[in-house]
Amino acid sequence: MAKTNIYLFANWKMYLGMAESEKLSKDLVKFSKKLPKKIKMAVFPSALSSTAVVKNLKKTPIAVGAQNIYFEDKGGFTGEVSAAMYKDIGSKYALVGHSERRHLFHETNHEIRMKMEGALSIGLMPVLCVGETAQESAYEPVWAISKGLGVQEQGKHCDATEANRVHGFIKKTVLALTKDLEPIILFGGSVRPNTAAEYLKQSNIDGILVGAASTHLDSWKDIVHNAC
Ligand code: 13P
Repeated sequence: MAKTNIYLFANWKMYLGMAESEKLSKDLVKFSKKLPKKIKMAVFPSALSSTAVVKNLKKTPIAVGAQNIYFEDKGGFTGEVSAAMYKDIGSKYALVGHSERRHLFHETNHEIRMKMEGALSIGLMPVLCVGETAQESAYEPVWAISKGLGVQEQGKHCDATEANRVHGFIKKTVLALTKDLEPIILFGGSVRPNTAAEYLKQSNIDGILVGAASTHLDSWKDIVHNAC
């Protein structure tokens, strides 16, 4: 059955500086005019670039999200940016518990829960990331995440049917907890223009969260075309 909505989320991580984020967001304005309604696109720039990107994309259907948030609204929390501050500038989403935050910055499940609650309490839509390392052989499959766009930097390929199986498990688990709130589940891990469609045709995959390949206009455009 054809999907009503397809979620294409671009996590720019720390790949793009201010000028590069400004440029890419301006290029996306032109591109957004041709987007079919079923494509729900969001970009996640750095904290520093968020205000400018929100401003550039204001009149487009492309939403903006935070890569990370802090759960307190204001206070003595050096270096942090709160969910409320992102909401205030016009962000719609917030990534919570990305594997790079968990592994590189030792974010705990407790902090992730606080961030989920912080985001929900002020109406910022959280995008909770769950994954597995190769050692845990458990699931975003961390082993599939790339370190850049180059072939050498690509993570291991995660078979689309395996991703679909795990998404089915996650969907069932979340539904059992929320009863009637059907979760939207995105796949992330070295998605490239030539693999996007293969993931998106799977029944339990509602969209994709793309890192490296979303930071170059050409590869992002190709991913979007192949997803439509
Ligand atoms: P890549 O697409 O660069 O592997 O990143 C995946 C990811 O971590 C999305 O947030």
